[in-house]
Amino acid sequence: MIVLGYNGFGRSAEIFGRLFRATGIDRHLLYGHDSSAALVIDGELVAAVEEERLNREKKTSSFPVNAMRWCLESAGISFDDVDKFAFAWQFSQDVVNKMITEITEDRAATVEQKFARLERLAETHAAMFSEAATEADFLQHTGHRLDPEKLVRVPHHIAHLMTGYHLSGGGDAAFLVSDGRAEWLSSIMGEVRDGEVKVFDDMTIDSRHSLAMLFSVVTRYLGFVPNNDEYKVMGLAGYGAPPEPNPFLEHVVEMCPDGTYKIPYPANAVPAYYDLFDRVFGGDAECREEFDYRVRVASAAQHMLETVTAGQMRTLETRSDLPRVIFEGGLALNCVNNSKLLERSRFTGMDVSFGASDVGVAIGAALFTGGQAGTPPRTGTSPYLGPSYDGQEIHAALQQYADQVVWRELDPADVPREAAHLMRERCVIGWFQGRMEYGPRALGNRSILANPKFPDIKDIINERIKHREQFRPFAPVVLEHRAPEVFELGKKTSSPYMTFVVPVRPEYQEKIQGACHVDATSRIQTVTEQSNPLLAELLREFTELTGIPCLINTSFNVAGEPIVCSPADALSCFLKTEMDHLFLGNFLVSRI
Ligand SMILES: [Fe+2]
Repeated sequence: MIVLGYNGFGRSAEIFGRLFRATGIDRHLLYGHDSSAALVIDGELVAAVEEERLNREKKTSSFPVNAMRWCLESAGISFDDVDKFAFAWQFSQDVVNKMITEITEDRAATVEQKFARLERLAETHAAMFSEAATEADFLQHTGHRLDPEKLVRVPHHIAHLMTGYHLSGGGDAAFLVSDGRAEWLSSIMGEVRDGEVKVFDDMTIDSRHSLAMLFSVVTRYLGFVPNNDEYKVMGLAGYGAPPEPNPFLEHVVEMCPDGTYKIPYPANAVPAYYDLFDRVFGGDAECREEFDYRVRVASAAQHMLETVTAGQMRTLETRSDLPRVIFEGGLALNCVNNSKLLERSRFTGMDVSFGASDVGVAIGAALFTGGQAGTPPRTGTSPYLGPSYDGQEIHAALQQYADQVVWRELDPADVPREAAHLMRERCVIGWFQGRMEYGPRALGNRSILANPKFPDIKDIINERIKHREQFRPFAPVVLEHRAPEVFELGKKTSSPYMTFVVPVRPEYQEKIQGACHVDATSRIQTVTEQSNPLLAELLREFTELTGIPCLINTSFNVAGEPIVCSPADALSCFLKTEMDHLFLGNFLVSRI
């Protein structure tokens, strides 16, 4: 059984740009962002890649034709060999009827406004939501005519859930899924028992009350890109305590005793919310540029998000007696919240996958569809699912840049030792090894690494290498067995995907200043010999040389660009920055 999962629409950017003004700063407010493909063969996830890594357009919503082709080529098969195509969206009749009803029953809208909205919905349905649109999209981009019998449309939240469920090893678990907007809903919760999904229907939140969308409006209000820069708001929040009482909880969100919530989201949400935020925080357009004001709003928004999801979690822990919870959806990228949710709940374990946001739904859709067709998923947890390049391919790329770089081929056994030696000093290295990792975090195969002991290393990487805001923190990678010595892990024993934030122990806060946020926390990645042998070896060598048990690990890209995929991408990025050296497989590369 061969299943190809995917997410992405050929016309989303055009339709949402033209009909819903998803352009400029709002360009990511559309369906199908983070398009991707994933290949499952006989229950095993064998390949997956995000389209942005191949078409080099960050967070692209394009039809994932390059991702699909790479997945199939990597397995030596073609479109004709695929048994099922699993699309991570299901715009059923029921969903579309709800969209229509939402418009016709909007008491605040005039008849003319309702007709205009219905016309936009009709065009979007014809271009994106309908089965005919899905089939036309597929044919146009791949040249392959889909057999309707082979197409499975998986509800978006079920795809999210299945990503988290299978990548965490399966097994019974309670779950919370929360994102900006699926087809109609923005949050569901329930349980998976013996592989059966049970959704607590009375706890679902529809997209008219989306917590993630509200957080996106705050992101925009603070001058960042909504549905992209929410982690910057989370980072800013660390610089201050939330105001009391919290204006968001006083004036915007209504929390209900049962754990649900109501968030008014008017048709003109942006100007309406800007006015409201200005009023309740005492700000204006000028204030929004001031660091202290931004911190106050960001910390209130973060506190609001934590409070609302904690309300959901309290209900979930009373409705389910299972010890473990899965949290997926775009909101689960808020790693500060994840740790607090776990520590403050009765759950003993929480899993958030490396594909928690929309990047992951292609994987979940494929694994779910394979399972439905009688091939139970064989669970694996490796995020290293993308392209890799051999020495010949790397050498060919180096030749292309021969006028700008010099290189030396190392014995493979010497690679971690050389890198560790270089990083004894303020040396920032590019680290490009093996198969590319999947998801928004670089997990040690397409990474920029540095020694966290230097107080100014954060500024060096932010300004001279990543070209990004000064307030942004960096995360450490640490050997799993050393992690408890450096960090207060709470209920966690590992955090392999950088989806949790933990306090740094006081005795290490000075020693790893470059990887310690202003509030003395770190978004850690734990590594084992099994999960990433080369990175584990590098950490062992580095620790032995310096006594420092972790490295700064940040993604191998510059602000606004996707993480590098190929050796040529890595060389191009290396030359745009002031990175000191680049390890491309076994080649040590330096600029001329
Ligand atoms: Fe989603």
